[in-house]
Amino acid sequence: MTKRALVTGVTGQDGAYLSQLLLEKGYEVYGVVRRSSHFGVADHRLRWLGVDKDVRILDGNLSDLSSLIRNVEQAKPDEVYNLAAQSFVASSWQQPILTGNITGVGVTNVLEAVRIAAPGARFYQASSSEMYGKIQEAAQSETTPFYPRSPYAVAKLYGHWITVNYRESFGLHASSGILFNHESPLRGIEFVTRKVTDGVARIKRGLQSELRLGNIDAKRDWGHAKDYVRAMWLMLQQDVADDYVVATGLTTTVRDMCKIAFEHVGLSIDDHLVIDPAFFRPAEVDVLLGNPAKAKAKLGWEPLISLDQMIREMVDADLARIAG
Ligand code: GDD
Repeated sequence: MTKRALVTGVTGQDGAYLSQLLLEKGYEVYGVVRRSSHFGVADHRLRWLGVDKDVRILDGNLSDLSSLIRNVEQAKPDEVYNLAAQSFVASSWQQPILTGNITGVGVTNVLEAVRIAAPGARFYQASSSEMYGKIQEAAQSETTPFYPRSPYAVAKLYGHWITVNYRESFGLHASSGILFNHESPLRGIEFVTRKVTDGVARIKRGLQSELRLGNIDAKRDWGHAKDYVRAMWLMLQQDVADDYVVATGLTTTVRDMCKIAFEHVGLSIDDHLVIDPAFFRPAEVDVLLGNPAKAKAKLGWEPLISLDQMIREMVDADLARIAG
């Protein structure tokens, strides 16, 4: 029997890589796409991976429960992956209510649609290491207390706990992946890695001279999205639903991540980097470092792509984009 998956946020970075993985495994993949006036840009990531023709697009919105029920009825999924969110932390101070409605309460809408229309389906919630915020332990695991530091993180925490609650209340096979930062050439330009790799490529090609960033002392545990979507899938293959940290176990400053990008094209960070107060946040998450021991032991998951490899891949992709 062909398995069927429903993916919200299918046009995002993770949605594209997950769709590719599921299609390779023989799934029928249905993707929920929110109607937008920017016609034609919605599927550029799916196109980049060559899977745009294979994903069946459904019209739905996390704020509209009836649309989600129809999506679930149509897809008849064995597995539902909730990847949709307002996912840019900095914007969450500008749009805190929308962030709460979509990134937080939107999760309940998807869970309700599953509970009503496909209660036997397995559910994945995209939780986030941002929930650790002001960290309460040097290396964060599934048992580390949370301390969110942005409206985004507060909303993600709601999504995380409502997933746990639906598992405990209704016996849904609902798992939550607490994913640390994960990047790729398909990352949105507003996130720091892609902003850096795009900026470095432009500087290399003479299209700009400086790269303006905010807090470059922040430290993140960065992995590759392609590795991380494999962990999502593995979670839903387990007999028992559970929560898992997905991380590399290494942390690096924004500055050192930047250096990798500049050095890859033979440029020096000191000649081009400008610190701009406009990119500092009202409250910062200074450092994140994940402990992926449980995912390694129970899922047999390992990240395969290093930060160095990933940043070089991203710079090369941005150089090619500019040339193209
Ligand atoms: N975006 C951005 N732009 N970040 C900057 C800049 C800049 O110009 N300068 C410094 N930074 C710092 C931010 O202050 C933050 O400490 C760090 O770079 C990473 O920022 P982002 O790449 O925007 O990611 P994030 O850590 O805030 O959130 C991402 O990871 C989460 C998982 O922990 C997002 O993908 C979230 O959706 C995800 O949940």
